[in-house]
Amino acid sequence: MTPMNTPEFVRHPQLIAWVEKIAQLTKPAKIEWCDGSQEEYQRLIDLMIANGTMQKLNEEKHPGSYLANSDPSDVARVEDRTFICSQDKEDAGATNNWVAPSEMREKLNGLFDGCMAGRTMYVVPFSMGPLGSHIAHIGIELTDSPYVAVSMSKMARMGKAVYDILGTDGEFVPCVHSVGAPLKDGEKDVAWPCNSDKYIVHYPETREIWSFGSGYGGNALLGKKCFALRIASKMGHEQGWMAEHMLILGVTNPKGEKHYIAAAFPSACGKTNFAMLIPPAGYEGWKIETVGDDIAWIKPGEDGRLYAINPEAGFFGVAPGTNTVTNSNCMSTLYKDVIYTNVAVTDNGEVWWEGLSKTAPENVTNWKGERHTGEEKAAHPNARFTVSAAQCPSIDPEWENPNGVPISAFIFGGRRADTVPLVSEAFDWVDGVYKAATMGSETTAAATGQQGVVRRDPFAMLPFVGYNMADYFAHWLALGETVGAKAEQAGNKLPKIFNVNWFRRDEQGNFVWPGFGQNTRVLEWMIDRIEGRGNAVETPIGLVPEYEDLNWTGSDFSKAGFEKVTSQDKDLWVKELESHTELFDKLGERLPKVLRERQKQLIDAVKAS
Ligand code: OXD
Ligand code: MN
Repeated sequence: MTPMNTPEFVRHPQLIAWVEKIAQLTKPAKIEWCDGSQEEYQRLIDLMIANGTMQKLNEEKHPGSYLANSDPSDVARVEDRTFICSQDKEDAGATNNWVAPSEMREKLNGLFDGCMAGRTMYVVPFSMGPLGSHIAHIGIELTDSPYVAVSMSKMARMGKAVYDILGTDGEFVPCVHSVGAPLKDGEKDVAWPCNSDKYIVHYPETREIWSFGSGYGGNALLGKKCFALRIASKMGHEQGWMAEHMLILGVTNPKGEKHYIAAAFPSACGKTNFAMLIPPAGYEGWKIETVGDDIAWIKPGEDGRLYAINPEAGFFGVAPGTNTVTNSNCMSTLYKDVIYTNVAVTDNGEVWWEGLSKTAPENVTNWKGERHTGEEKAAHPNARFTVSAAQCPSIDPEWENPNGVPISAFIFGGRRADTVPLVSEAFDWVDGVYKAATMGSETTAAATGQQGVVRRDPFAMLPFVGYNMADYFAHWLALGETVGAKAEQAGNKLPKIFNVNWFRRDEQGNFVWPGFGQNTRVLEWMIDRIEGRGNAVETPIGLVPEYEDLNWTGSDFSKAGFEKVTSQDKDLWVKELESHTELFDKLGERLPKVLRERQKQLIDAVKAS
């Protein structure tokens, strides 16, 4: 049996017993209790360099930074291998893959039996959210991947201090991860061990996560999508809070008014860029600051306001397309101590990806380790950087406030070539929930599967709600009532809800709206609306600005262009609204009735317009 060698800083008998039980099942050669120290980090990195998993980058250009290339079959989240194993199938709902927990446990018991043989099992303690915050929660990930252990130290608050918070009986979410590639005695390891059979399993009732076969991103860094979204959304449903696929940013105007806004976009639709926006020329005196780029945990305060934290401590962002024009703050964040995965590298040890510069430099090795010829992409479209959020020049001074930041508005945005206008404000909370629930977006490389097809992605949470999607809609509606009532009592308001679409295309297929820093103009209009002074006109599908209602200082964007990105085509909208029936039918009886009513009202209103 593997010696337990439990360090004295772990004083939690139930946790120790669980680690022992998993070690008995998975049979690692060694157990290592991570303490989050710099010495430990460097030791694991050096180990991975020796194994060929990682390579050191040019120290002058990329101090303290490394590159890992994954197996070509392990490059993105595997949604079709992701399971919500609730006792009752109905509690997982029609949008999740479900297998009965007893059946899944039997399957996983077989897969995990001896799966860590020849490897080290790392015990990775982490807090999602600032240590000790009443909004934060703790997890422990057992993993046989040193890549996961070091990535977790950037993406979460990882280390010894977590055990101080846990004490002898604190609550934690147990997360078990294996790449699923046991080593026989003396067998040589490969650079990126993984298994062609993958299982990303959640037991929502017992709050457990079991992940097998992948070492990549959201499949393997279990604090992120598995805990902070799937398990946390279920916890939020039970306890009256929200776990959302949202960035959080702070906007301050020259008058000093500051508002925090949370925005949901599907994966790889520019959340990181939006969170780190730099106001354009003409917006001197404006400040946009970053609280988070991917996930928000939001709890109601006594004053009826919603307070959000970013449960993560780092950014796991998509590299391709990122450059000093699209996201200068992000490029500055990457100045040191970055773990890159699946980007390309020059012979000089400098990283490169499509979009970093117009053309690839000389002598580039692509993400598969082959010479880049220009025929294939040099970086995988879902290539990522993993970096500490504290390095971000636009990080908000309140980003680690344990009490969170108060949210003034929610934004929901999809990637739509047509139909959906640049921006619209919902008429009220229920209308906003309807719009978020029926959001559509073209699929991207963040998940395996066909790309560029419009799919319904409610609240940008389709792959991330850990329970029945219909109940999730009901939860949002119920919070609107309870929190709204509290807010009214305290003289506050529920956040406004907006929809945006930065991705409208013209007849030639080009994006019409310039996006990036120019989105500040839309944010300014939203703040004017929040402050009760911005103009909007009523259309059947929401309240929208006219050309004159946006501040165009420093912009040459034409009125004709504005009309292109804001036009509403009656036929397309009727078709759009009618197509929501497919999702509603899929969700069945548990769908809140008010949403079907709202659909009918909207169709009638569009038809009558
Ligand atoms: C992510 C995703 O990695 O949404 O953030 O896929
Ligand atoms: Mn995401």
